[in-house]
Amino acid sequence: MASRSGQPSWKRTALLGLVSLGCLLQPAAAVKESDFKKCDHSGFCNRNRKYADNAISQGSSFISPYEIIPESASFRDGQLEAVILKTINDQEETVRLPITVSFLESGTARVTVDEERRQKKDIELRHNSRARKERYNEVEKLAIVGGLTLDSNARLAHQDKSHITVKYGPSSSFEAVIKLSPFGIEFKRDGATHVKLNDRGLLNVEHWRPKVEPAAPVHPPPDGDDQQQPLDAEPPPVETREDETSWWDEFFGGNTDTKPRGPESVALDISFVGYEHVYGIPEHASSLSLKETRGGEGQYTDPYRLYNADVFEYVLDSPMTLYGSIPFMQAHKKNSSVGVFWLNAAETWVDITKAKASSNPLAIGSKTTTNTHWMSESGLLDVFVFLGPTPHEITKDYSQLTGTTTMPQEFAIGYHQCRWNYISDDDVKDVDRRMDRYQIPYDVIWLDLEYTDDRKFFTWDAHMFKDPIAMGEKLQESKRQLVVLIDPHIKNKEGYSVFTELKANELAVRNKDDNMYDGWCWPGSSHWVDCFNPKAIEWWATLFKYDKFQGTLENTFIWNDMNEPSVFNGPEVTMPKDNLHFGGWEHRDVHNVNGMTFHNATFQALLSRKANELRRPFVLTRSFYAGSQRFGAMWTGDNQADWGHLAASLPMILNQGIAGFPFGGSDVGGFFGNPEAELLTRWYQAGAFFPFFRAHAHIDARRREPYLLSEPYRGIVTAAVRLRYSLLPAWYTAFFHAHRDGSPIVRPMFWTHPSEEAGFAVDDQLFLGSTGLLHKPVVEKDTESVDMFIPDDEVYYDYFTYRLLPTAKGKRVTVAAPLDRTGLLMRGGHIVPRRDTPRRSAQLMRFDDYTLVVAVNKAGTAEGELYVDDGDSYDYEGGQFIHRAFRLDTANGGSITSVDAQGRDTKAIQPGAWLKAMDAVHVDKVIVVGAPAAAWKNKAEVTVQSGAETWTAPVKYYAAEQGRAAFAVIGRVGARIGEDWTVKLA
Ligand SMILES: *[C@@H]1O[C@H](CO)[C@@H](O)[C@H](O)[C@H]1NC(C)=O
Ligand SMILES: *[C@@H]1O[C@H](CO)[C@@H](O)[C@H](O)[C@H]1NC(C)=O
Repeated sequence: MASRSGQPSWKRTALLGLVSLGCLLQPAAAVKESDFKKCDHSGFCNRNRKYADNAISQGSSFISPYEIIPESASFRDGQLEAVILKTINDQEETVRLPITVSFLESGTARVTVDEERRQKKDIELRHNSRARKERYNEVEKLAIVGGLTLDSNARLAHQDKSHITVKYGPSSSFEAVIKLSPFGIEFKRDGATHVKLNDRGLLNVEHWRPKVEPAAPVHPPPDGDDQQQPLDAEPPPVETREDETSWWDEFFGGNTDTKPRGPESVALDISFVGYEHVYGIPEHASSLSLKETRGGEGQYTDPYRLYNADVFEYVLDSPMTLYGSIPFMQAHKKNSSVGVFWLNAAETWVDITKAKASSNPLAIGSKTTTNTHWMSESGLLDVFVFLGPTPHEITKDYSQLTGTTTMPQEFAIGYHQCRWNYISDDDVKDVDRRMDRYQIPYDVIWLDLEYTDDRKFFTWDAHMFKDPIAMGEKLQESKRQLVVLIDPHIKNKEGYSVFTELKANELAVRNKDDNMYDGWCWPGSSHWVDCFNPKAIEWWATLFKYDKFQGTLENTFIWNDMNEPSVFNGPEVTMPKDNLHFGGWEHRDVHNVNGMTFHNATFQALLSRKANELRRPFVLTRSFYAGSQRFGAMWTGDNQADWGHLAASLPMILNQGIAGFPFGGSDVGGFFGNPEAELLTRWYQAGAFFPFFRAHAHIDARRREPYLLSEPYRGIVTAAVRLRYSLLPAWYTAFFHAHRDGSPIVRPMFWTHPSEEAGFAVDDQLFLGSTGLLHKPVVEKDTESVDMFIPDDEVYYDYFTYRLLPTAKGKRVTVAAPLDRTGLLMRGGHIVPRRDTPRRSAQLMRFDDYTLVVAVNKAGTAEGELYVDDGDSYDYEGGQFIHRAFRLDTANGGSITSVDAQGRDTKAIQPGAWLKAMDAVHVDKVIVVGAPAAAWKNKAEVTVQSGAETWTAPVKYYAAEQGRAAFAVIGRVGARIGEDWTVKLA
């Protein structure tokens, strides 16, 4: 949920009586784009684009006015410090901008530019503002959790008056060449340039300056306030050649932004030399490989925007901002990935253009250079540069800084049943019963806004939810969970204890006059908890204790919505930028990280619900920033029940994985509207391969729980959900890798096959972790096949039929996908763990035996993994997990083995309760797809050896026929999953 256009009509009328705002009168058809700024409406975006146009139009005669003072530069312990001088007013004045270039142990470089005068707080604020005077320098505290150790091997290789060279990184193969005048940096790997900063001269740090008031206003404003100049008003007659019209107060959609510090943006061009593709900077409903943004056929005319906002029913194929922002970008060309992380939490725009470098006929590979132009409204200029060279290394280096995906509650990777709203505890129990009656597995049922008493969070509508405890206990019988909505806006209502405490402890966001900020959201007049304040996080945690939030149980978890934050009567449906947060920072400075601080507060709260109960939280968030992966899952917000939104889900979810926050999904079925049965069915099939798999629907949408579908749809949807459940062991293993090193859970082709150029823009299919399962859902109506891109020369089998596909590297293959199937292939060379007994919930499958599916490759071998732990506690940190590496080998007549994947002596681990229980869990079947006849044909049994014991297991062999590969099924294998074992063919 949600959006203000989503107001049920009776609520809308009620609100309208109270708020005289036209913006509530939106048609529910689609987002009103004019509610949100284009670059033209944003003063700093406009200024920086003009700056760029001017610089570029002057060509080589444009000289960037930034230079490092040679004497200021010193290098020590992996860090270069210097001062950049910015020359202004026709060479007459300069502004000092301290710069630090840090070289980190991981091989990442960081460039930070501040403004000396702001550091010294030597500025005056307008409007008697109480905001801080420094540039915002604390987003690092929120986003970065490690990886900042300096590289003691980084060394100064050269220094003179024109440039400074630092060698760093693995075997000193990286190099930063810092040019002093004009300032610029080239990053090289093995002697070749990959990334350039300020090569096009677009660096722009808007320094602080006083507002010079006109001596005598030409037209005295009627209200006597001479500071309110609308954008299109005549500039005051001040002696300056610069256009000041957007420097001071800005107006948009009936709101005034007082901008007490005036213009203060930071902007920089970053060129990826020889790179044709860039990915990342979610969240946008756009392609995975990002488009150009300065016009041209099929390209955008606006930059990609990052300014977290409640953009419901968003338009597709657009650079428009959405709910979350991760300012991380990866560039890729054949065999090489590099990346940048722009650590800034203010409103940010990114222009992308591509230039063909035809002048160099000797250039290897792609000859296109992608030029990017980053613009942020305020804060430090702070950018990390990653030199790869593999996508996996980029992912690892980025997640060293911002952290990895938290290990999920195991139930959270099952299927989630949601709608706005299950209206009562009886309704919840009824859905639960009917899911069971139709044998559709699910793990979590969700309660949207309306479970509360009058939209007061931490309360229940006592009339509709008479006995939430009994409801929770009923769910617990089938080991299911309840997720309830908790938003950051707190109803302004005397007598509501949460409001009273928020107010008394002064833990709310303040307005520009330093009073508690009041805005409109679901409950009407509301206040917002300020989770930048450590005391607010502490207080927030008290609200979730079982005795405080009554009606909740151990199986209650949380959904954080509207945390951009969404404010119905605010500018662009969010808070005014001149609001104040803890520490005196303006909302302007912290906007994009706001949602993450709230998500974090809830995560911390769940960790401390009860003394001695340390369990993994599950918290879904709508708004996010770099680092949100540490706190839970995200979804792509308020989408629409149409085929376009289904198709858009894939690139969006793939991009989340590239940007380090892979636990995502889109609302299955589409939030707004009523999907036809075919669309809903196809969405379930796609959703079964989203890391976060949740169906959701708007309050005005018809009920659409999967059991309500008629046949054949119901059966097909049931099969899709069951397919997800049978593959949960593979999903959990993929999550484990995301947790360990930041790897995407679902992976695009460029990430898995970085040398296969034809796959670099493919964004409608995915690999599930490292399982070799290649999935492409049907996202178009009346479509019965999919063309799947094949990234290599391996063999590929159809998952459902074991048909060997006529594949070729870089080519597409047509795979039948009638309504009951999607394109799902098994790449040769992998072993996939499954659990084949369908049950009602993931938790009920915890101690089921495993099936291993072996897809034999051209060389006759295969490898795979299984990671499993108790799925609930943090005991895995103490070694309470099973992590197996499986291998099919051809040597000695052939064998399949299982060993500990981390080389541990598992016998030495003192088993806890869960690990003990896993002793009774075995490998049941092994299915060998593509089993070579020579080794398998005449086999009736194989020998299984584990520890000191040896026994036999039966084999059934099915010869190849009519395009289907040969396969063999080893019956009851009976080896313990946690122990070493070998299946011998000879
Ligand atoms: C790219 O990598 C592949 C696979 O490692 C290798 O075979 C190929 O020679 C490399 N190509 C270039 C241009 O470096
Ligand atoms: C999350 O909360 C913890 C505990 O108060 C705090 O130390 C940390 O800085 C917070 N992180 C974010 C991203 O808000």
